[in-house]
Amino acid sequence: MLERHKPGLDIIYIIPTSCLVGLFFLAVATAGVRAWLPWERDLEAFNRSTAGLDKRVNLPSKIRGVNLGGWLVSEPWMMTPEWRNMGCITDTEPAACSEFDCVSRLGQSKADTAFDNHYRDWIIPNDVQKIHDAGLNTIRIPWGTGSIGKAADLGMFVIIDLHGAPGAQKLGDAFTGQCLTQQYLPGFFSQYNYDRASRFLTWMTQRIYNTPSYKKAVGVIEVVNEPERGNARSQQEKDTLTQVYYPQALRAVRAVEDSMNVNQADRLHVQFMDGLWDSGNPKSNLPSDSRVMFDDHNYVGDAIPQKDNAKQADYMWYTCKDDDRLTDGDTPKVVGEFSLTVKASIENNSDFDPHQSQNYPFYQQWWGAQQRLYEKTNGWIFWTWKTQLNNPRWDYQLAISSPYNFIPNSASGLDTPAGFDFCKKYFGN
Ligand SMILES: *[C@@H]1O[C@H](CO)[C@@H](O)[C@H](O)[C@H]1NC(C)=O
Ligand SMILES: *[C@@H]1O[C@H](CO)[C@@H](O)[C@H](O)[C@H]1NC(C)=O
Repeated sequence: MLERHKPGLDIIYIIPTSCLVGLFFLAVATAGVRAWLPWERDLEAFNRSTAGLDKRVNLPSKIRGVNLGGWLVSEPWMMTPEWRNMGCITDTEPAACSEFDCVSRLGQSKADTAFDNHYRDWIIPNDVQKIHDAGLNTIRIPWGTGSIGKAADLGMFVIIDLHGAPGAQKLGDAFTGQCLTQQYLPGFFSQYNYDRASRFLTWMTQRIYNTPSYKKAVGVIEVVNEPERGNARSQQEKDTLTQVYYPQALRAVRAVEDSMNVNQADRLHVQFMDGLWDSGNPKSNLPSDSRVMFDDHNYVGDAIPQKDNAKQADYMWYTCKDDDRLTDGDTPKVVGEFSLTVKASIENNSDFDPHQSQNYPFYQQWWGAQQRLYEKTNGWIFWTWKTQLNNPRWDYQLAISSPYNFIPNSASGLDTPAGFDFCKKYFGN
């Protein structure tokens, strides 16, 4: 996930951030290409007839999912009580900035115990069952264990993303696993770390093909989540991320598939941040490959021009009239991270406080508008399933619960925003 939780930064990102949606249509539309997408394997979670008419969406379908944020890469901002449990905050010491800082503080053996307990408890197979039962068909995670098996059993689709890259792909953000400072630049953006990341991709690709539950469920592997972007990029990043690492990462996955003689039709989609993310044109040095896809992260909060004077209608207008996730031409694509958060400085104003019932209709309508917009790509994955923020704008489980009900809690409920024009209802045209 993101940076958005940090005052002064305008982006947010997370772990397993990314996703897949756009692929489906593309794959279907491209003659002769049969990639591994949910409908091509008739995954149960995409099959409405399997679980009863109310449960699933019709094929061909959209990816509808959540991130399993805070699990395999801890992000302290969204899980303070858990961070305290783990010993990463104490009465005498402030919160450790990242996993790396906490491990340094605790020492390896105490840290191993703390993190093993966290991995065991933060997301359990029953969470995946609940995600499925809320009408969702996809989860986005880094590399995980038991819960991928559960997702495979339920016929759900899984995207694995390299969330925290070796050396860190962004300054000062826990989602990378460490809080990188200037003195350690270029961080990830060196050949040494590209080689380490490629070895991870090789290992993970082998693991996917050698583990039956992974092989059934995992269709996409994302090579790096949210690298530094815009003017904040170092020269090394500008020179090498898209030119060196992206093609190297794609080759690493395809080399494993070549060596295992994996059929073209069964190969993984390899995913890159899209052009809108602004860390270079992802396609600029990629070879032709029919199973490449893109990840779009869209935290609207600061995007609107009205800034601190923004009203509810300004957010609706932005999503309904101004926003377009397809302008970079990078398809297939999934909106792999987004939330219902508004600009931090106004988030608790009476217009936006999510705990005040007069604001529930706004969040319900804004959800509907965002879902509909993102389903112009191949689908969406919300950030995130579980938090300890008591904020239904970040927390899917809260957002589908009473009294909020910002998001429908079933597959058929999620068909409503797909088929209903909330923008027309709101603006009357
Ligand atoms: C999907 O539903 C159809 C119709 O009931 C059924 O024939 C098919 O086996 C189902 N596929 C899966 C994977 O459950
Ligand atoms: C809004 O309220 C939440 C919960 O009390 C708090 O954590 C957050 O800092 C508040 N935001 C602002 C901008 O004051």
